[in-house]
Amino acid sequence: MTAQDPLAKIAEDILRENDRGSYTVPTKGLYPFQWNWDSCLTALGQRHYDEARAWTEIETLFAHQWPCGMVPHIIFHLNDDGYFPGPEVWSTGRPVPTSGITQPAVAGFALRRLFDRASNRAEAEARVRALLPKVAAWHRWFFATRDPKGEGLVAIIHPWESGRDNSIDWDVSFERVPTEGIAPYTRRDTQHANPEHRPTKAQYDRYLWLVEHFRSLGWDTAKLHDASPFQVVDPGFNAILLRACADLADLAEALGEPALAAENRAFAARGLAALERLWSVEHGQYLCGDRTTGALIDSASVGGLLAAFAAIPPARAQAIAASIEAHGARFRVPSHAPADPRFDAKRYWRGPVWLVVNYMIADGLVRAGQTAAAAAITRSSLDLIHESGFAEYYDPTTGEPLGGGRFTWTAAMVLEFLAMERA
Ligand code: GLC
Repeated sequence: MTAQDPLAKIAEDILRENDRGSYTVPTKGLYPFQWNWDSCLTALGQRHYDEARAWTEIETLFAHQWPCGMVPHIIFHLNDDGYFPGPEVWSTGRPVPTSGITQPAVAGFALRRLFDRASNRAEAEARVRALLPKVAAWHRWFFATRDPKGEGLVAIIHPWESGRDNSIDWDVSFERVPTEGIAPYTRRDTQHANPEHRPTKAQYDRYLWLVEHFRSLGWDTAKLHDASPFQVVDPGFNAILLRACADLADLAEALGEPALAAENRAFAARGLAALERLWSVEHGQYLCGDRTTGALIDSASVGGLLAAFAAIPPARAQAIAASIEAHGARFRVPSHAPADPRFDAKRYWRGPVWLVVNYMIADGLVRAGQTAAAAAITRSSLDLIHESGFAEYYDPTTGEPLGGGRFTWTAAMVLEFLAMERA
């Protein structure tokens, strides 16, 4: 079916090219391992040509879940000197080396989508049944360790956990992270991509200080939240988790697991209520909160629009659709509001468009009845691919392709967007 569309053919070729058998690398060179949320979203693309392979992608990720329930953000399946910080810096002591922090919990959503759209029902049921308790354990870990006071929302303790690594959202809170005493290092990212589009040296020092600090605590994930000078409550990150909780609850119900269903339903309900504290009337979107100060962070990034992925009130979804329209960018959705003087059209996560984020926003807007806004995002995403190919991210003002090329999750999202337009 997908082979009929020339874009679908290229997308499938890219996914196969980056496939390492049981996991897929985001792109050759820049990212040579398995990344957590990349894999879950990649599976949604793989299902269009090989359903069984799609399940394997997520199963491989969960085979490296920590005993505490955390699912790490990178699995270092094979050695590769081209990436920094590699396994020796993280030094987490896992049988197959992994990083020691996590990433957006999109797995529960991905499972539900694979399950709902599967043509092989018996296989889908068997594979979801095996994954269900693992995803549930990850959700439980999140609320136990990243919401120790039971506020309903979880904090990230490192910008890399957000998936929006270099967002303007982190700048002010990040100032609180020291840089003294970190081991000397050589970056690799700037050898694969234009340094102008990557984080600065001062930011990189702080990323590493946090890693070394957590390492000095023996990667005891029960201790890291309180020990971190960086604790940010990101509405996008939380919306992904809350959507995953709701989706997992539906799956659990369908498969006769009422206790898991009730637990995840409760996480979702409590989180959605708490999310309202992050709404900004002025910006017409949600904002991040700094847990160490209790203040909202004045930064209108796409994280606050991505909240539409969860079941937020309809009036909020409508306001988010209007805020995206008001951006007035040639391509949707910029990762930061273009009117903000800090907007940077080319530096990663400080302005550029990412197809994975577009996909989740569009999906949420459809569910909220904002179909025209969702269709505009879908069209804009496919227009970008037609003009600029399958890049990691794009300049929203010119469409220029940026970062890595022949990028896995971009290809996966193209297959999904093509299916959305056909539906
Ligand atoms: C970058 C992105 C992150 C992604 C990774 C692999 O670090 O910021 O979200 O998971 O690349 O694609």
